[in-house]
Amino acid sequence: MKVDVLLGLQWGDEGKGKVVDVLTPRYDVVARFQGGPNAGHTLEFEGQKYVLRSIPSGIFQGDKVNIVGNGVVLDPALFKAEAEALEASGHPLKSRLHISKKAHLIMPTHRVLDAAYEYAKGDAKVGTTGKGIGPTYTDKVSRNGLRVGDILHNFDQKYAEAKARHERALKALGYSYDIAEAEAEWFKGVEYLKQFQLVDSEHEINRLLSEGKSVLCEGAQGSMLDVDFGSYPFVTSSNTVCAGACTGLGIAPGKIGEVYGIFKAYCTRVGAGPFPTELFDETGDKICTLGHEFGSVTGRKRRCGWIDLVALKYAIMINGVTRLIMMKSDVLDMFDTIKACVAYRINGTEIDYYPYDINEGVEPVYVELPGWTTDMSNMQSEDEFPEEFNAYLSFLEEQLEVPIKIVSVGPDRAQTIERYTEE
Ligand code: GDP
Ligand code: IMO
Ligand code: MG
Repeated sequence: MKVDVLLGLQWGDEGKGKVVDVLTPRYDVVARFQGGPNAGHTLEFEGQKYVLRSIPSGIFQGDKVNIVGNGVVLDPALFKAEAEALEASGHPLKSRLHISKKAHLIMPTHRVLDAAYEYAKGDAKVGTTGKGIGPTYTDKVSRNGLRVGDILHNFDQKYAEAKARHERALKALGYSYDIAEAEAEWFKGVEYLKQFQLVDSEHEINRLLSEGKSVLCEGAQGSMLDVDFGSYPFVTSSNTVCAGACTGLGIAPGKIGEVYGIFKAYCTRVGAGPFPTELFDETGDKICTLGHEFGSVTGRKRRCGWIDLVALKYAIMINGVTRLIMMKSDVLDMFDTIKACVAYRINGTEIDYYPYDINEGVEPVYVELPGWTTDMSNMQSEDEFPEEFNAYLSFLEEQLEVPIKIVSVGPDRAQTIERYTEE
């Protein structure tokens, strides 16, 4: 059986959580492979809204197994708060949520280091989520990290050594902090974590696959935040692209089947960094207001702009996307004209590929398309799509050379339309 991967193609917040929830009934297992509580994946159904940060978005559909893979970084205190809230709302987790022993732990001092490094960068700061993501992955790669499996043996000593190392670094930075309270919560989280099934998830996933079970891998962040291929250095610290599913779960590349790439009908970004199609005018404000573009974790206002097909084509190439999913098209329902960036102009020269550096001097080249000016949020099938909307879809498919299989017309699980286009 093959593994399908679902991931964001822009700068995150494309609507991954919603679609994973929609697709989960077709799979036996849902697994997260990278990132941590920097993610905020929103799901809405039956009048309820949930925001997931470390727990996979397949948790609401029946008794499916959900796995937190080795590529994920986990903060026990935040995990406890998230899991307890879910259990309290009638969603038992302990039998269904398996956590890799090889996932790395975000320590309280990692969060302080995240803040300290951002402070030290001054105006050049990345605008991280402040969850300690960068310092935790740094410790992993420099072979100093603590893993979930470590909590089972001689943990206090390992923790004290890692903390002392962080304290030396913070002292050198002259950064003052007080983590007494956070540390107490964190250790409660560590004890709580022991109640879950801590597993060798690479063995588990491969066994399930050999038994004929199907797996959906849920990406976090987006391809343009990938540490290698995103708009470096304004990126996160993990491989958010499809290859990350192989290293973050222990799945061989040949086992990857469909790659679902999700994008918004426009584009957003939180935090600092280049964003060629960003709008600083009333249109940008209108997209922000209609799309409720505020971060699900930090509440930060998301920067908004038109869709960037140059960046999207690049993301499709890196990920080997086989099916596209377009989100939030309803946000554009009332626009007379819609723009799409088809090339960049740099120093007067037009290019249609994503260059080494988009940090400065990139001017978007747009084509304009007529809007559909129709409320699509209650539509149930593609037969109801207005002519101009179909033209927008055809234009995108022609440019991107991948079929758009699903269109999302609202935040609710039910506001999802599958298209039956030819493969
Ligand atoms: P994720 O991080 O990719 O899972 O996305 P987020 O949950 O951070 O952000 C997506 C936001 O858009 C959430 O508030 C969703 O409830 C909402 N959303 C998802 N799909 C749609 C849609 O088709 N239309 C509208 N209006 N909102 C949507
Ligand atoms: P989901 O999974 C949007 C951004 C931060 C910052 C940069 C680095 O909900 O799509 P980090 O804390 O990871 O070191 O921050 O990455 N970022 C996200 N932006 N959605 C996310 O996750 C993000 N996770 C990180 O804003 O610019
Ligand atoms: Mg999000």
